[in-house]
Amino acid sequence: MKLTTIFSALLSARLVSAALDEKIKTKGKKYFGNVLDLNTIDDDAITDILKAEFGSITPENSWKWGAVQHVRGTFDFTAADMIANWAIENGKLLQGHVLAWHSQLPSWVHRIEDAEDLKSIIETHITTMVGRYKGKIDSWHVVNEVLTDSGDPRDSVFYRVLGEEFIDIAFHAAKAADPGAKLYINEYGLEVAGPKVDALIALVERLSARGVPIDGIGTQSHILSGTLKNYGAQLQALADTGLEVAITELDIRIEEPVTPEKEEQQAKDFKEVTKACLKVEKCVGITLWGVSDNYSWVTSVLPGLYADPLLWDDYIAQKAAYDAVDTALD
Ligand code: XIL
Repeated sequence: MKLTTIFSALLSARLVSAALDEKIKTKGKKYFGNVLDLNTIDDDAITDILKAEFGSITPENSWKWGAVQHVRGTFDFTAADMIANWAIENGKLLQGHVLAWHSQLPSWVHRIEDAEDLKSIIETHITTMVGRYKGKIDSWHVVNEVLTDSGDPRDSVFYRVLGEEFIDIAFHAAKAADPGAKLYINEYGLEVAGPKVDALIALVERLSARGVPIDGIGTQSHILSGTLKNYGAQLQALADTGLEVAITELDIRIEEPVTPEKEEQQAKDFKEVTKACLKVEKCVGITLWGVSDNYSWVTSVLPGLYADPLLWDDYIAQKAAYDAVDTALD
């Protein structure tokens, strides 16, 4: 037998036996997901991994407000549909990311000062976006990053003009447009105990108390390796609100320079996060924010500072972190 034949036989055996999505499903979870966007959709090495290993797709950028409604009243779904179609054709769940977020938001929205105007703009955006993919979405990240690091309301155009009620407006509009999708609040910085977790839980309780149709909390989980302090306890605290929870944007970056010891620590961190989702009954799934390190936003946004936050390396080879997640799912 030729070496290449043996190699490809080994590779496919590996892909079949180790699919993270299949494994997490045997533990009663809904999905192990990953992101897809225009930067990776034509890279077969990445899409082959997505097909084999992951059961859910989150569009990394193409569904953001600035991408679909850059000009007021003009929607362009070319890129958004490409990602949606890929997910549907390949039998993956779709997580909708994202509806009301202060970032990657066009400047014309930032400039709105009139409350009625902003309310109707939010409703139009959400009705159009959610309506387009009605019946095809597992969950929507309805609002994203509405709190600061200390747990205060973030100073966005939404809060400034409408106050906390912008959150109600967004959720009600999403519910009306697709009653079947799970509606999430998505937030970063919920991995360790502190004022931000407390503020998020208090906010969710206020929303639920006034009848806002919220189903879940997404904890983004962009983590710096070595900083976790009982991740599982925080996940449980979020679940104790009674809502479902999901780990929506997992990556665990390493501070440069990367060393074998730091890679070992990263593998441990990935194991801790994976185990936490398995242990918390209301945790429905995990989404990684990228397949391989070379495509990660971490290296493009913070070059030189942090590196290698994912399960496959720059050459699309599985890392120790992959094995840690894989065995955590056994
Ligand atoms: C990031 C993307 O990964 C980058 O490609 C883009 O340049 C900036 O946004 N929180 C979120 C995500 O909710 O949408 C962000 O994604 C990462 C932080």
